[in-house]
Amino acid sequence: MLLGIDVGTSGTKALLIDEDGKILGSSLVEYPLYTPFPSWSEQEPEDWWRATKEAILSLLEKTSISSNDIKGIGLSGQMHGSVFLDSKGTVVRRAILWNDQRTAKQCDEIVERVGGVKKLLGLTLNLALTGFTAPKILWLRENEPENYSKVAKVLLPKDYVRYRLTGEYASEVSDASGTLLFDVKNRKWSKEMLSLLDIPEEWMPKVYESPEITGTLLPSVAEELRLKPGIPVVGGGGDNAAQAIGTGIVRSGVLFVSLGTSGVVFAHLDTPEGDPEGRLHTFCHAVPGKWHTMGVMLSAGGSFRWFRDSFGEIETELSKWSGKDPYDFLTMSAERVPAGSEGLIFLPYLTGERTPHADPMAKGVFAGMTLRHNKPYFIRSVLEGVAFGLKDSLELMKALGIEIKEIRAIAGGARSPLWRQILADVFDSPIVTINVTEGAAFGAALLAGVGVGAYKNVEEACDSVVRVVSREEPDKERVPMYEELYGLYRELYPLMKDYFKKLSNFVEKYYVNKK
Ligand code: XUL
Repeated sequence: MLLGIDVGTSGTKALLIDEDGKILGSSLVEYPLYTPFPSWSEQEPEDWWRATKEAILSLLEKTSISSNDIKGIGLSGQMHGSVFLDSKGTVVRRAILWNDQRTAKQCDEIVERVGGVKKLLGLTLNLALTGFTAPKILWLRENEPENYSKVAKVLLPKDYVRYRLTGEYASEVSDASGTLLFDVKNRKWSKEMLSLLDIPEEWMPKVYESPEITGTLLPSVAEELRLKPGIPVVGGGGDNAAQAIGTGIVRSGVLFVSLGTSGVVFAHLDTPEGDPEGRLHTFCHAVPGKWHTMGVMLSAGGSFRWFRDSFGEIETELSKWSGKDPYDFLTMSAERVPAGSEGLIFLPYLTGERTPHADPMAKGVFAGMTLRHNKPYFIRSVLEGVAFGLKDSLELMKALGIEIKEIRAIAGGARSPLWRQILADVFDSPIVTINVTEGAAFGAALLAGVGVGAYKNVEEACDSVVRVVSREEPDKERVPMYEELYGLYRELYPLMKDYFKKLSNFVEKYYVNKK
């Protein structure tokens, strides 16, 4: 059996599979997210570790499986978060997460230090984005010098859990790609980036390919978790790369679109040739020697969750009585209003945006409200706005000549047939779902299987377990209407860009506490 652990933003999931890919059980333990100021986003690494232990223990209890049968552990996790450790391996401050937007200034500084965007793209294949790790290190240096002076190691979220499991400081190529300190083309730390930004190379963990064994379970931890000591822990992957393994995105032509908190459009690449302008990310894949490109929307499922939490009180109450998911009540009422929401357009930039507009100051907008627009219209408009935001990434991929034969919809939002139909209509492409819904944790478990020799390679692991189970076709009548509405959606951001900046300055002035 293989154990996959996904250190997500809302919780940590532990998942057990057998070598045929059959899921034997899973367990999720949640933790808080801290937003001390608008646009900040932090978590406590100790919470990830506690949740990992609780999830494993509850999984073992639930499945009553003998821990002797677990042959390998794979890790996956939210990308880009910065875990700062001192020389004793103690956490220095809360981790700053992938969706934190405080580092706009440091991003400009990185571009300047490196000698321009072109040089940066040459070194890392990516742009300096607020969510990435390097600007967070610079932010700490400038804003919390005392904390900075203690730093001896910088880890990514799942790699902190690895450190607690194995005592090793290690990472792997897919997650390291999102630090902006990695030479993605050559799959190693970029000495040049580290030196240009004055970051000591010793701070960075050793990097492996994703299925490689990075260490083994410490005896003390094994005892606490009632597992066998010495179980191999493989590299694993950033959540998107691991998700791609778990959904079989290991060759050109098949993409995934994910509707998690963030929304991602992900395509496999055989060579490190992605977007020369860096609007899409180009990262190492969890398939050894391969790469991938992706566009990331910061609030996809997150927009719908915001709507549920802010305006879905009745649906949440109803769900307690009926046992049905509150999202199902919300989508049921959205089905009653016409496609296109009679011109009500939602810009889903609730936490700023990354692809295609790398703009931490972008904000959410509803445009085109009239007296006719009641709650169901707003729900439908949120689902459509997210689909348009994802189409932006898909269009960039098409323009790069990336082959698109099949799009697999995954993560929480993909459970909704209405949302999948909206994607099919907006993308003008069939949308399929697959038999596996456990995504990243499943991919991490498969990578563990490759590492311990249960499968010959990653492709074989995926082929043996992933199957298509449903298919939504685009409705040819709705496609042209959505195409036109997408055009109108595209016009909104450029109209609002400067205005977002003014609003952000206002918020900064009156609501962000300056120490
Ligand atoms: C990817 C990204 C998000 C997080 C979410 O670049 O920032 O998808 O990995 O967990």
